[in-house]
Amino acid sequence: MKKLLDLISDEMMQAFEQAGYDRALGKVTLSNRPDLCEYQCNGAMAGAKQYKKAPIMIAKDVAAKLADSTVFAKAEAVAPGFLNLTLEREFVGDYLKKMRADAKFGVEESKNPAKIVIDYGGPNIAKALHVGHLRSAIIGESVKRIARYMGHTVVGDIHMGDWGQPMGLVMNELRLRKPELVYFDENYHGEYPTEPPLTISELEEIYPFASKRSKEDEAYKADAMACTYKLQSGVPGYRALWKHIIAVSVTDLKKIYEKLNVTFDLWNGESAVHDMIPGMVEAMKEGGYAHLSEGALVVDVKEETDTKEIPPCIMLKSDGAALYNTTDLATIKMRMETEQPDRILYVVDKRQELYFEQIFRCARKTKLVQEDTELKFLGFGTMNGADGKPFKTREGGVMRLENLIREINDEMFRKIKESRETSDEEAAATAQVVGLAALKYGDLSNQASKDYIFDIDRFTSSEGDTGPYILYTIVRIKSILAKYAENGGDVQAVSADIKAPVNDSEKQLMMALAKYNASVEAACDEYAPHKICAYIYDLANAFNHFYHETKILAEEDTSKKAGWIALLTLTRDVLETAIDLLGFSAPERM
Ligand code: ARG
Repeated sequence: MKKLLDLISDEMMQAFEQAGYDRALGKVTLSNRPDLCEYQCNGAMAGAKQYKKAPIMIAKDVAAKLADSTVFAKAEAVAPGFLNLTLEREFVGDYLKKMRADAKFGVEESKNPAKIVIDYGGPNIAKALHVGHLRSAIIGESVKRIARYMGHTVVGDIHMGDWGQPMGLVMNELRLRKPELVYFDENYHGEYPTEPPLTISELEEIYPFASKRSKEDEAYKADAMACTYKLQSGVPGYRALWKHIIAVSVTDLKKIYEKLNVTFDLWNGESAVHDMIPGMVEAMKEGGYAHLSEGALVVDVKEETDTKEIPPCIMLKSDGAALYNTTDLATIKMRMETEQPDRILYVVDKRQELYFEQIFRCARKTKLVQEDTELKFLGFGTMNGADGKPFKTREGGVMRLENLIREINDEMFRKIKESRETSDEEAAATAQVVGLAALKYGDLSNQASKDYIFDIDRFTSSEGDTGPYILYTIVRIKSILAKYAENGGDVQAVSADIKAPVNDSEKQLMMALAKYNASVEAACDEYAPHKICAYIYDLANAFNHFYHETKILAEEDTSKKAGWIALLTLTRDVLETAIDLLGFSAPERM
């Protein structure tokens, strides 16, 4: 469907043309003075010079052409030459009726559907998930949903860190603690056990322990690196043990991502491309892109126009070891071969921006991607505590994701119990749904690249620009619809019955609703879920205003009442679709 603002502009352009002026002057914008009008057009001011006429004269000419407009109830020329616009109620009602009848409420799918790989999540095996990984998961999931909704084909890939130094640290520590395990016996040639030799809690205890010790003990660190080497060079026991560690970790990761309502199509790790590295590096040498520098194999990626120093991409260290960026480049190669994407999007901490600049340049220079393949970095800011510093536990440690989720849910539970009589069981179930909304909305409502303050109290509040406020609004609508049905009304039967608005708050609600297509399309084009948050916050406010001004269920005129019920179903459906794009849902009651 054409956007409301475009329809309005069309009408205005036509009026400019009919009055003998340039069409292009008829661009309409939202009003700067909502107390005076709904929309405005400043074209007369812009045209004054060209037509050597006072702007007010032009504005008056144009306004005269709009006297019988079916779009504008009022088009007033005001000094010094503005056109103040108020929409015709019928026009707004018609638009909403069409929106109701459209499967995607007026959103048109992209005319150039693309194949997109999104790299998000990025957890590291053996290390506990922390809040740093939270943003990648939340933002990546939403961007994926929005792009799919717009008709793109999207593949979500978790890109686990499962191949580097942490793996060696864990294996080495396990070797010291349980030397009897067959994995470490290099003369062993039998089958390896199917049961993992450690649990997730052991794994989570071992890594920080080993990581700390490796920083204090050189010999210990060397042993761990030797283990990493054995794993990477394919020693069978180490590979078998590694598979167990991955399996134990992935089982745990899946549980956490499920709680977050985050899913991936591919569970590939850095290890998935290990075998592609030698061939890729060889081709880089043959192509004359890579050269030796102080023993390491590097690809230069600086460009003449650089204003800051962009260091070369190190492909292999002097000992022949591959690095984080080597796997990232090999992953690009693999994705190009298996998925043939038009675009690869990375949802990663913005502190890795320079790193990705290097990767992208290297991938282009060495022709891993096609000329028109788009490589895009979507960097996000830090989640901070109330002190403005990166979020920590009360004890000052790194906050684990599960604990953070638990804290939010506990606070939500407390608030629910405080506000109404309900069983612990029901309150806990509701707290989970609302807690997730609080967490995700708290994150997504900020522009991704900005840092934000994690504030449990604010995020879980049912008032203000929060997830719970949006859910309360949805639940409120559902409860009105349920009462309508209880009193014998047929919600389904009247749901298409949207009419022209009868009062101002209803018209405002309709105009808020009508911005859906523009908001979703902008959110997709700019990878900006916060635009959907801003839209639903506005919409929820407009609905609540309407609700407070209007006695919906007590209305005696049944046709009027049916129109309102129809409008409510549309508001509910749009809100529920929008929160699904953000990656959370609403409970039946709160
Ligand atoms: N595992 C990395 C980390 O924890 C994030 C991975 C980001 N994605 C990528 N393709 N490098 O920092």
